Amino acid sequence: MCGVKCITFALWINILSVITDKNDFKVELTPRMPVNHVGADLELTCRVNACPVNVTFQWRVLLDNFHGGISKNEQTVSRLLIRNITVKHNIALVCKATCEGNSRENTSYIKVFSFPQDPVLGKIKSLIANQTQTLNCTVHNVYPVERIKIEWLRGDETLHVDDTGFPSDSVQSYSSVFNYTPSVWDLGKNISCKATLNITEIGLEKTRNSNAEYGPGTITLSNNNHSVKLGEHLEITCHADGNPKPTILWWKEETEPAQNKSQNEKLIINNASWSQAGWYRCDARNAVGSQQMRVKVIVLGPPNIPKIQLSHTGDPKEGENITILCSSDDGSAGLTLYRQSQSAVSRALNESAVLLNIPSVQITDGGIYICEAKNGVGTERSTINITVEAQVKLVKKPDLPVAILPVAILPAVGSVSLLTIAGLLIRYCRNKARTNSGDITLS
Ligand SMILES: *[C@@H]1O[C@H](CO)[C@@H](O)[C@H](O)[C@H]1NC(C)=O
Ligand SMILES: *[C@@H]1O[C@H](CO)[C@@H](O)[C@H](O)[C@H]1NC(C)=O
Ligand SMILES: *[C@@H]1O[C@H](CO)[C@@H](O)[C@H](O)[C@H]1NC(C)=O
Ligand SMILES: *[C@@H]1O[C@H](CO)[C@@H](O)[C@H](O)[C@H]1NC(C)=O
Ligand SMILES: *[C@@H]1O[C@H](CO)[C@@H](O)[C@H](O)[C@H]1NC(C)=O
Ligand SMILES: *[C@@H]1O[C@H](CO)[C@@H](O)[C@H](O)[C@H]1NC(C)=O
Ligand SMILES: *[C@@H]1O[C@H](CO)[C@@H](O)[C@H](O)[C@H]1NC(C)=O
Repeated sequence: MCGVKCITFALWINILSVITDKNDFKVELTPRMPVNHVGADLELTCRVNACPVNVTFQWRVLLDNFHGGISKNEQTVSRLLIRNITVKHNIALVCKATCEGNSRENTSYIKVFSFPQDPVLGKIKSLIANQTQTLNCTVHNVYPVERIKIEWLRGDETLHVDDTGFPSDSVQSYSSVFNYTPSVWDLGKNISCKATLNITEIGLEKTRNSNAEYGPGTITLSNNNHSVKLGEHLEITCHADGNPKPTILWWKEETEPAQNKSQNEKLIINNASWSQAGWYRCDARNAVGSQQMRVKVIVLGPPNIPKIQLSHTGDPKEGENITILCSSDDGSAGLTLYRQSQSAVSRALNESAVLLNIPSVQITDGGIYICEAKNGVGTERSTINITVEAQVKLVKKPDLPVAILPVAILPAVGSVSLLTIAGLLIRYCRNKARTNSGDITLS
């Protein structure tokens, strides 16, 4: 089936194999495609599978001998040790083996990269919602720098990607600058800079990650109601974002020095008392910065007893202009001023006083007036009993002024006894009084 041609071919193959037998050797070079970090050591092994005599080895790059390493040869093996790899070692290194005058060679493609450290992030003093911050992330000693990609993340979300490194034949640093405006939704999530060196053609992908350190910025509180009824319970939790996690404590202000009121972020007031009212401060701090927020805790109880006053001392008289003032030293209470079983129109002066003005008071205006202070917890009242005095129509003056009479008459009627004058005066007055029927008020 094979035929003459076929036999000839087989024979030829056989002859060839006999001729090349002692020279038909292979050169194995390992590793074939080493990927090495700058600074590392690399050992290449060049091995000849079959040679009856010692093999002569030559290591070279392109056409030149390679001098960057130390080689050790045995009969059929040569080992080349390259110490402290640099970017200059990004080469195709050839091992040439000569056995009995015949040479074979093999090549190792060395790839070098450098990515020794995690990215370095600038510290951020304080990260405040809606305020733009310039963030900086640097990767040092990178090679090849054009293969580096920097990603900015908040939690798992990518905020920004930077991969515009220019090619360079040396180890370089690369920085990414990013203007970041945090939103309140992002609070509590780490900001990280993720650097990736990706050399796909040799299957190299290395990632290094760093979290930004930042001081507390925006402080938020668990609830916005900071008032508590006397004897009841109030709890306010203070939240602040930061890395490292800030230490959060509550302090009571208005005491010298301020008093610590919590072991953590919770301010707890049990059985509220008056003395617990006032300004508190939530203080959040970490190694990078600190932030404070002030909160006024209001303790609600029945209002203080209000004060009611009349503009006059003593009872007012009919026709007089009177003012009733209702006031309180308790700013949280609402004040009203009214006449008992009536509603009176009072005018608010300010948050702690109302007044009622009666420009011409009448007897019928007399009675009980009530000043009432009311808040969410209770009501307190003060009253005043106003009696309006009837105003006397002044007696019509006599023709002869009484007071002047003795002075005018005395010298003229020296002989007339004082008794007679007195008697005359009394009679005169009585007559005068009778003519004006009505009250006599000496005022
Ligand atoms: C081969 O090399 C070894 C040393 O590696 C040496 O001891 C030996 O004598 C050599 N053999 C010949 C035939 O040159
Ligand atoms: C490695 O090489 C670099 C640059 O050539 C040099 O700065 C460094 O000192 C060397 N390191 C060692 C351990 O020899
Ligand atoms: C944020 O980063 C710090 C280290 O910088 C780490 O200890 C912490 O667990 C991280 N927090 C989250 C929520 O990943
Ligand atoms: C609450 O405080 C008041 C006044 O200090 C005290 O008399 C009362 O016993 C306290 N109540 C409780 C439940 O602790
Ligand atoms: C409110 O008005 C009263 C009366 O004029 C005055 O005594 C008081 O100081 C005022 N209070 C405030 C808070 O202005
Ligand atoms: C009554 O007195 C008040 C001040 O006490 C004054 O403001 C007001 O104008 C007076 N009214 C009249 C009618 O005189
Ligand atoms: C208010 O005073 C008048 C006169 O002093 C008195 O007659 C009246 O009983 C008093 N009213 C009240 C409720 O005390």
